[in-house]
Amino acid sequence: MKLWGGRFTKPTNQLVDEYTASITFDQKLAQFDIQGSLAHVKMLAKCEIISQEDSEQIAKGLLVVAEKIANDQVELTEENEDIHMNVEKLLIDEVGPVGGKLHTGRSRNDQVALDMRLYLRDALVTISQLLFDVQQALVKQAEANLDTVLPGYTHLQRAQPVLFAHHMMAYVFMFQRDLERLADSWKRVNKSPLGAGALAGTSFPIDREYVAEQLNFDGITENSLDSVSDRDFVVEFLADASLVIMHLSRLSEELVQWSSAEFNFIELDDAFCTGSSMMPQKKNPDVPELVRGKTGRVFGHLSGMLTTLKGLPLAYNKDMQEDKEGMFDTVETIKGALALFAPMIETMEVKKETMYQAVAKDYSNATDLADYLVGKDIPFREAHAIVGQTVLYSIEQNKYLLDLSLEEFMQFSDQIAEDIYQVLSPKAVVNARNVAGGTAKNRVEDQLKQANALFEQN
Ligand code: ARG
Repeated sequence: MKLWGGRFTKPTNQLVDEYTASITFDQKLAQFDIQGSLAHVKMLAKCEIISQEDSEQIAKGLLVVAEKIANDQVELTEENEDIHMNVEKLLIDEVGPVGGKLHTGRSRNDQVALDMRLYLRDALVTISQLLFDVQQALVKQAEANLDTVLPGYTHLQRAQPVLFAHHMMAYVFMFQRDLERLADSWKRVNKSPLGAGALAGTSFPIDREYVAEQLNFDGITENSLDSVSDRDFVVEFLADASLVIMHLSRLSEELVQWSSAEFNFIELDDAFCTGSSMMPQKKNPDVPELVRGKTGRVFGHLSGMLTTLKGLPLAYNKDMQEDKEGMFDTVETIKGALALFAPMIETMEVKKETMYQAVAKDYSNATDLADYLVGKDIPFREAHAIVGQTVLYSIEQNKYLLDLSLEEFMQFSDQIAEDIYQVLSPKAVVNARNVAGGTAKNRVEDQLKQANALFEQN
């Protein structure tokens, strides 16, 4: 008989059992569910709602059940619908009818809200650590490439050269914001909803704070209706995770491009690439491609969760059981991507010479020629036009700016002198961007210091 079978006259249609059960996926919550139950049952005794002896017997039984689930020694059944009722059933099998006292003053509605928060708390810690590892890998590449110049792009057209270190640091700061968002969400996740009951609270003289303290929550939720129907914290996590994987996806796209023969700026380590079953020469950047591809499912989970919640009246509705798979999948997807990114970034080979040649053979120093003329008191707009003409001439002559003779330069402005060759060299162009946040070497070194200071606060 079902745990709630008393009111029913016949067994549930088997298709209904299958359709409404969540045990196939919410078994992931088992250890958190039992952790919550242990705190709850201790509180029941402390508040003299059940006897100390019963409480201890239940707690002992719960630990046995936890062990048996962890070791796959018990069967979790669809008939028992979800992890909460499966655990309760297993507990009663273990300790007898006294196990039926566990659910006193509690509903699955506040119980599941608690489990979700416990699960997410755990995931937030792991994901933050993994994000930090990726930041460290990027920082290492930045430190090793403080003199590596690569073309910087806008519209995927060569724009102005930047330091490879500068490019790596751009991602370090993106992931820093991601970390800060996750840390901020902790405030909202880390409150205990237990005691909200089904929706209205409970008539038993429970001590919600005591449960919260045992489970290391920062406090308790304020309103019972809100407590059982709130999944904002899940939406917020999915949104934060979407930004994480969006950032990873942009970096992935760059790694894919850079490792193509057309760019040839980096080479990913063999250990992080795969081959082709047909073309023997292939070495494919499958990992960044797949991370880029998996953004779709994470964005999808965010949009799915928002849509599930949008029309729901208070308080709990069965629709909310749909909160789990997207969250679990997002946690696994993000963890998997981050765990690969740190070593993949750390081991990638940076082809400094190819990058340098790419910068030397383009017109990305044109802005510097214009700025040079501005230094000779020519208005920027005029300088822009002069340099435009100079570039056009160079293209027609099949030359780059640095290939022009001084005479050729002077056809466009008699203000150009011998020092122009130094001014237009890739390193000089980079170091000219000596502004806070700019790509000049000393400014990138400042960024490394700033990042380290932020890491201290994490
Ligand atoms: N499996 C359910 C869920 O995940 C637990 C809560 C069920 N509550 C209820 N009143 N049917 O949402």
